[in-house]
Amino acid sequence: MKNKRTIPFSTASCDYYFDADATRLEELAPRDRTVLITDEHVFAKHQALFGDFNTIVLKPGEEGKVQATIDSIIEQLLDFEADRTWTLVGVGGGVITDMTGYVAGIYMRGVRFGFIPTSILGMVDACIGGKNGIDVGIYKNMVGLIRQPNFLLYDISLLKSLPEDQWINGMAEVIKHACIKDAPMFKLLEEHKLSDFRKDKDLLSKLIKRNAMLKTKVVQEDEFEKGDRKLLNFGHTLGHAIENMYELPHGHAISIGMTAACYLSARLTGFAETERVVKVLDKYGLPTYADFDAEKAWEILKMDKKRTTQSMNYVLLNKIGKGVIQSIPLDGLQSLLFEFVAQ
Ligand code: GLY
Repeated sequence: MKNKRTIPFSTASCDYYFDADATRLEELAPRDRTVLITDEHVFAKHQALFGDFNTIVLKPGEEGKVQATIDSIIEQLLDFEADRTWTLVGVGGGVITDMTGYVAGIYMRGVRFGFIPTSILGMVDACIGGKNGIDVGIYKNMVGLIRQPNFLLYDISLLKSLPEDQWINGMAEVIKHACIKDAPMFKLLEEHKLSDFRKDKDLLSKLIKRNAMLKTKVVQEDEFEKGDRKLLNFGHTLGHAIENMYELPHGHAISIGMTAACYLSARLTGFAETERVVKVLDKYGLPTYADFDAEKAWEILKMDKKRTTQSMNYVLLNKIGKGVIQSIPLDGLQSLLFEFVAQ
């Protein structure tokens, strides 16, 4: 397959195939020793991709990203008599890639795996970085591992049938990347609108590659999230708390989380560009405010993996394109978040 870029991480390397044709998957994963994992929506939309590959089709949605689904996948792998030489391929969005990577990490203590992302969010974020896992109750991604996939296969023709709400969802992560690391991309997003990217294949392909490589670079420099990788959590601390509380689409939840983080930044770093961020989020169809139960959100947020006993590492902005991690005492953080909700 053409356009291969081998990306080294500290524990393994991953082959990225940009501008690829997903129907040529067999060149990377032998049909008789591969299981594709997908959901009912993706399976119905992209039948040709699955052909006579062994396939596990799951119910769509974040509700299924739980241990019971993992157990059922493992049972089906045993039914296929999959052994350690087999490859698992997650074909879908973030929920599917998260679960596939997690099962691949634990099945027979680890088998080879790759991803074919079928959503913007999957392409620019979820399939990259090796963090894969499941939710526990209302706590998102509470259990999982960091283990890099063997390959990523990017075929943007798969986005043709992506529903509008999924485009919007994915753009939230694109805006996040621009906010924390890429001021010129933020300008590009200001100059365009969603329909420009949907219509222009080259513009879209460049945007996806730019985001995939931005995230890749951050992960390469800090695979196990001791430092800068935490920046990728911009908008996610509050976002994750309200996402499962109100069953919000991920992009909506982190968009509200990003607005809150801008509010905190204005108070703590002197950030003065909240209006620009809100305008871009709004232009790409994302909510920037919600009247949520702040007490309940706080109870969940306190359990975030970024918390230490007395404080929380929160991602703020110094300016657009320059994210910073700041340790905020828990009581101060609580007051600021309550102020944000009350405004
Ligand atoms: N799989 C998503 C990440 O590693 O961030």
